[in-house]
Amino acid sequence: MKQKPLLICNAAQIVTNKGKKASCGKDMASLTIIEDGALIIEDGVITAVGPTDEVTGGLNTDNFDVIDATGKAVLPGFVDSHTHFPFGGYRPEEYSWRLTGVPYMQIMERGGGIINTMSATRKASKPELMALGRKRLDDMLAMGITTVEGKSGYGLDLETELKQLDVMAELNNEHSMDVVSTFLGAHAVPPEYKGRADDYIDYVADTVLPQVVESKLAQCCDVFCEKNVFSVAQSRRLLQKAKDMGLELKLHADEIVSLGGAQLAAELGALSADHLLQATDQGMDAMAESGVVATLLPGTAFSLKETYARGREMIKRGCAVALATDFNPGSCFTFSVPLILSLATLHVGLTPEEALTAMTLNGAAAVGRSETTGSLEVGKAGDAVILSYPSYLFLTYHIGINIVEKVIKNGKLVVDRS
Ligand code: NIG
Ligand code: FE
Repeated sequence: MKQKPLLICNAAQIVTNKGKKASCGKDMASLTIIEDGALIIEDGVITAVGPTDEVTGGLNTDNFDVIDATGKAVLPGFVDSHTHFPFGGYRPEEYSWRLTGVPYMQIMERGGGIINTMSATRKASKPELMALGRKRLDDMLAMGITTVEGKSGYGLDLETELKQLDVMAELNNEHSMDVVSTFLGAHAVPPEYKGRADDYIDYVADTVLPQVVESKLAQCCDVFCEKNVFSVAQSRRLLQKAKDMGLELKLHADEIVSLGGAQLAAELGALSADHLLQATDQGMDAMAESGVVATLLPGTAFSLKETYARGREMIKRGCAVALATDFNPGSCFTFSVPLILSLATLHVGLTPEEALTAMTLNGAAAVGRSETTGSLEVGKAGDAVILSYPSYLFLTYHIGINIVEKVIKNGKLVVDRS
């Protein structure tokens, strides 16, 4: 039976956001807000948005599924544009070592960190990874995330990288969440190639990447460009080849050491450069000029006790800033959207309005989906969240608390916590 269209009406406010591209610099603060608003979603797509009396005037509401949003704010669904969600195993002991002062990179150099998760992910069967991934997507959806990016990068060999990408493709098909897949074969140098990062980049570029492209399992390619991981030259070599083969690019850039990753992302026309705790003014200008989304992950700085990215300065320099969780078993074991939004406003210098843009429209741009999601406009996907409070301001103010009451994905009510 054909699904009835969905009408959300009487909302205290609908924050629509606007545009099919990332919002840059000072534009990030200008939200479009409709008071006493209504929204219609038909066949998964938004067909009307406006004041309730205008949208519902002359409408026979019997033909609709109706959600009365009196006293509640309606926002675009959140887009988490940077996670590493398909992984096996956990690393709680590393977290406790870090609390005693052992640095993240030192744990990695000793063979822990990403390599630890690599071993567990290689051992995990596909059904095991599917079950773990399914549960994580359920929990993310309940946070109001309606589109999530996920990375491979815990296989570091052909078979396991494809296994992770395959799991994401299947979850994308079976789950309400939209999953955007990123190939992160160059996440660390695996033990088989210890001390031979160049040879490993050759292997990834010549053996793994072509099969990833052939399988059509990834939309983007990413590299962990960092001191003692992959250099700018190695990152460029792999990313250029991925671009030539038709993938979009992303980059873990200038996280612990300022290597010029932001400039590299700009040079290659990447969708985004991510982390950026140590990005220089030149790096920020390069991203602003080339339209690379600066994706900030304040949960990671918080968890690693690092200095936060200079988000205020990036916005001042005209960058489009996105916010994402970086959910992974090591540096940031959380996908708490409320935590990320509060950290962004308390420590990264974003206003609540900018933080909202960063988690919706700019997140969508960071995964190449801003034409279809990230704002509540006619023609875009019906991806929305309804808060249990009347204003978007409660998102950052109610620190660490999930105030998302309902989640609508492609016009279907998929979460109801009321
Ligand atoms: O984005 N920095 C590199 N990659 C991940 C962490 C991965 C891990 O520790 O397992 C990040 O923080
Ligand atoms: Fe990451």
